[in-house]
Amino acid sequence: MVEAVRAHASQAGTETLVTLNVNDRSYTLRLDSRVTLLDALRDHLGLTGTKKGCDQGACGACTVHINGKRVLSCLTLAAQAESLEVTTIEGIHDVDGQRHPLQSAFMEHDGLQCGFCTPGQIMSALALIEEGRATSDDQIREFMSGNLCRCGAYPNMVAAIREVAQAVHDDENL
Ligand code: FES
Ligand code: FES
Repeated sequence: MVEAVRAHASQAGTETLVTLNVNDRSYTLRLDSRVTLLDALRDHLGLTGTKKGCDQGACGACTVHINGKRVLSCLTLAAQAESLEVTTIEGIHDVDGQRHPLQSAFMEHDGLQCGFCTPGQIMSALALIEEGRATSDDQIREFMSGNLCRCGAYPNMVAAIREVAQAVHDDENL
């Protein structure tokens, strides 16, 4: 479904039409060419699950997927995502609206406290598992190192990711 959404344009920037495919829906936005994907998602599409932490590529809170690969949406222009498949935390539930197993695992393992970093952590972890890079705690820690958590919930997050990665691995070997 295509939705035409009129966005506020900056008076100083050049306006451009951008088509974003987000969570299996298509949106056409008129945006200042300098608008980041993060701001387009949050401010123009109302998808506020993706968080703005540092806004300069240092914390991972803004992690989303483009064509299945994790990217920092604060360092990505909306125009760079033109016609690509963007997935945010709002798009990972199943068709019945049930939580993704990784979301359930984070809850069961207390992998969050304030929850601000959690959407970015989960989007990174999902990509990690799909890339086959979650085969040990050390590997999980290394490949999750771009996602910071001020609450320090790291050990519980590793436990949650390990559990889901193991389940995926077991399923693949059935
Ligand atoms: Fe993008 Fe911190 S908000 S890396
Ligand atoms: Fe609070 Fe990670 S749970 S910043």
